[in-house]
Amino acid sequence: MIGRLNHVAIAVKDIDAAAATYQNSLGASISEKVEQSEHGVSTIFIELPNTKIELLEPLGEDSPINKFLERNPDGGIHHICYEVDDILKARDQLLKEGARVLGSGEPKIGAHGKPVLFLHPKDFCGTLTELEEA
Ligand code: CO
Repeated sequence: MIGRLNHVAIAVKDIDAAAATYQNSLGASISEKVEQSEHGVSTIFIELPNTKIELLEPLGEDSPINKFLERNPDGGIHHICYEVDDILKARDQLLKEGARVLGSGEPKIGAHGKPVLFLHPKDFCGTLTELEEA
């Protein structure tokens, strides 16, 4: 079921400063900043040869990453995202195995315009895990 690593997401308080660090210190090319209001975050993607880094900054007072940044004021790895061929098939199989799917259980359209789901960190080695349909 599991496919390529699509991205690693890093939550930060100041996304412009974080993007500048990747651009200036590491020589990375960075995308435009996009406000994902339905997800409560702004994103900038850093394209690497084999995957992407997704920088996340809170958008709005009830952003789902506010609590994470309270616990990790310097920022930190927030989730990892794996590709799957068929997200509904993957979800149904995971539910059968007893895994918990966050939210309504229905895929939402993610930052790349493709359906995504999030899986409970307690079921996946303490790591919030996103699935994205390839
Ligand atoms: Co993500």
